[in-house]
Amino acid sequence: MARTIFIETTYLVASVLFILGLRSLTRPEKARRGMQMAAAGMVFAIIGTLINHEIVDYHWIVLGIAVGALIGYPLGMWVPMTAMPQQVAISHMFGALAATLVGVAEYYTASGMVGPGRMTALGFETLFGALTITGSLMAAGKLQEVLPGRPLTFRGQNVVNIALFALTVGIFFYLIGHPGNATLFYVMLALSLAIGVCMVLPIGAADMPVVVSLLNSYAGLASVATGFAIGNNVLIIAGALDGGSGFLLSVLMSKAMNRSFGNVLFGAFGTPAAGAAKTSAGLTARSISAEDAALQLAYASLVVIVPGYGMAVAQSQHQVRELAEQIEARGGTVKYAIHPVAGRMPGHMNVLLAEANVPYDRLYDMDEINPEFERADVALVIGANDVVNPAARSDPSSPIYGMPILNADKARSVIVLKRSMNPGFAGIENELFFKTGTSMLFGDAKASLTKLITEVKSV
Ligand code: TAP
Repeated sequence: MARTIFIETTYLVASVLFILGLRSLTRPEKARRGMQMAAAGMVFAIIGTLINHEIVDYHWIVLGIAVGALIGYPLGMWVPMTAMPQQVAISHMFGALAATLVGVAEYYTASGMVGPGRMTALGFETLFGALTITGSLMAAGKLQEVLPGRPLTFRGQNVVNIALFALTVGIFFYLIGHPGNATLFYVMLALSLAIGVCMVLPIGAADMPVVVSLLNSYAGLASVATGFAIGNNVLIIAGALDGGSGFLLSVLMSKAMNRSFGNVLFGAFGTPAAGAAKTSAGLTARSISAEDAALQLAYASLVVIVPGYGMAVAQSQHQVRELAEQIEARGGTVKYAIHPVAGRMPGHMNVLLAEANVPYDRLYDMDEINPEFERADVALVIGANDVVNPAARSDPSSPIYGMPILNADKARSVIVLKRSMNPGFAGIENELFFKTGTSMLFGDAKASLTKLITEVKSV
């Protein structure tokens, strides 16, 4: 009795910490504490689980903890920020693998002798768990470029996918009435694994972070079902939080990338819209030296910095902060414009700038900063491309048409730091680079910023 009360108390503490942790993630200055609270919650959940009276042998558990730590530590410590989306996909894969293995083990141990309620929970966790395993693996493969990033499609793909899903769900319902049919249970498992592959392959790499977050919500659903199947409250609560937040995040990300959520659910997105987008044939971009760019920055009264994926690649956030301090020391004002999908994961820019100690009150969301570009002397675009592409506003044939963008082109002058004229993630040209008033400072962002800092100091 005392043991049960202790376990339930640890689960309650864990759940409260998960909720508080998630709540803290809504503000950048509290995000780090939020993550620590969630990690502490996980420690409580593990302690509660380890003292469960149903555990008769700790050998496998100790081995599991050792293997988990061996995989988790390098994943957390050494994977670069730019590879976070695939890291997150792999983490979901492991979560879903755990849920699926529990489902299969429970079904196997009971030899199929389970009631309809338990079969519903087991079927649910196996189905959603298994499709999340393969789906997450495909997503990680595309992001890591070990699988082709382009959408892999064939004629009638959606019909095949829907038929596959309907067949699997049909078997699931049949099993609720006839849980003893082990062959069908394992057929359902195999079909669910196949659904994960078929669901993700037709989607382009550019849209993978939305897919990863949607799969996160599936893994959450699988955890809720596991919680019901084995009577574990913390799994139900944590799974619901995971599922709910993953689902909301995918909706918000699709919105910011101008994808309808129907697109996400049916999987056939990531393919450029039909028709050719406008090109810059005949136009030339104007390049600028660090000295001239520094002059503009040094005498500007308002500079809006637009960071993008290139800032993350160059790991130049510290130099960005230093340059901003130099401009401010000369009396200028510096504001940071944060696009919701700049970089490769939600909050990517916020995390990097927070790491470089950029004050949070200098970061402005798209809606707040867009009206300010018109009075900015310089929009300094650092490794951003798609999020400042005016084609999203003006070119209906562009694949990013309709995506809300940062209005950098409205600033009096625009300085773009990037290495070449290569396109960004969407793979399309950016007419901003060819506009009068825009100059390109070519080179790695960190090297260019270092030069700019020295030059601004010497103006
Ligand atoms: P991108 O459009 O991907 O452009 C990044 C630019 O950075 C490239 O054009 C590249 O040009 C430059 N770059 C790369 N390494 C650099 C370096 N070392 N120094 C200087 N520049 C460098 O980035 P963005 O504007 O942040 O847009 C994000 C894109 O990712 C959007 O299309 C968005 O939809 C997509 N996406 C984002 C998310 C989330 S949640 N953030 C999720 C899914 C998809 P060079 O090669 O010429 O240097």
